[in-house]
Amino acid sequence: MEGAGPVFVVLLGAPGAGKGTQAKYLAKALEVPHISSGHIFRVNLQVDSELGRKASDYLARGELVPDDVTIGMIRDRLAQADCGRGAVLDGFPRTPAQAEALDELLGERGARVAAVLYIKVDEAVLIQRLSGRWMCRQAGHVYHQLFNPPKAPGVCDVDGSPLYQRSDDTEETVAHRIAVYLRQTAPLIEHYRKRGQITEIDGGQPIEVVSRQSLAALPEG
Ligand code: AP5
Repeated sequence: MEGAGPVFVVLLGAPGAGKGTQAKYLAKALEVPHISSGHIFRVNLQVDSELGRKASDYLARGELVPDDVTIGMIRDRLAQADCGRGAVLDGFPRTPAQAEALDELLGERGARVAAVLYIKVDEAVLIQRLSGRWMCRQAGHVYHQLFNPPKAPGVCDVDGSPLYQRSDDTEETVAHRIAVYLRQTAPLIEHYRKRGQITEIDGGQPIEVVSRQSLAALPEG
C-alpha cells in the first residue's frame, strides 16, 4: 500500500468479536493510528471531561452515545496530524448517520473508506470473551485470562500499565450491548456489502489466524 493515498479501514462486529484486538495489530502493520471510539469515551470519563460526562450514562447502560456527540468527537480525532496516512477505525461508524458522516469527513480530505472488515463470531462466544477480558488503562491493550493472558498477571505487556475489567462487561450489560449492536449497527453490514466493500472474517479462529486473514483482506495487503 506504499505510495497510495491514506488508508482508512473500518472494523465491524459485535461486542467481544475482537475488533480492538485486531485493530491494534492492523494499525501497527499499516503504521496508522488505531481509533477506538469506546476507548476515547473511557479516557474522557476517567478525566471527567465534558465529553466524558455526556457519554457516561450511555456507556454504563450499554446504549449508543448520541450521533452528534460521537460524530463531533471523531471529527476532532480525524483532524489530528497522525491521521494523514489513514487510520483503523474500531467501533465507528455504528449507525447509518455515522457511516454517512464518515464518508463526508473523509471526502473533505479527498479520502474514502478503503475496506470494511466484518469480524463474525457466534453470540455464545462473545459473553465468554468479555467476561474474561482485561484491558490496560493507558492505551486499551486487550488481554483475555484464558485466550490471551498477559505475561505478568494484572500488568500490560506493552506499556506496563495496570489491567482492569470494564464496568460494562457484566453479563447483563453485555447482553444489552449485543441487542443494541443487532438493532443499530448490524444493518451497516448490508450497507457496506452493497458498496462491495465488506470482507467477512471468521472471528472464531485463533487471534493470529484472524490477524493474518484481516491483513490479507486489505487492498494490496
Ligand atoms: P466499545 O469500546 O467500542 O465496545 P464494543 O463495540 O462493545 O466492543 P468491545 O470493545 O467490547 O469488543 P471488541 O470487539 O473490541 O473485542 P476485543 O478485541 O476487546 O464501546 C463501548 C461503549 O462506548 C458502547 O457501548 C457505547 O456506549 C459507546 N460507543 C462506542 N462507540 C460508539 C459509537 N460509534 N457510537 C455511539 N456510542 C459508541 O476482544 C474481546 C475479548 O476476546 C478480549 O479478552 C480478547 O483478548 C479476546 N479475543 C479477541 N479475539 C479473540 C480470538 N480470536 N480468540 C479468542 N479470544 C479472543
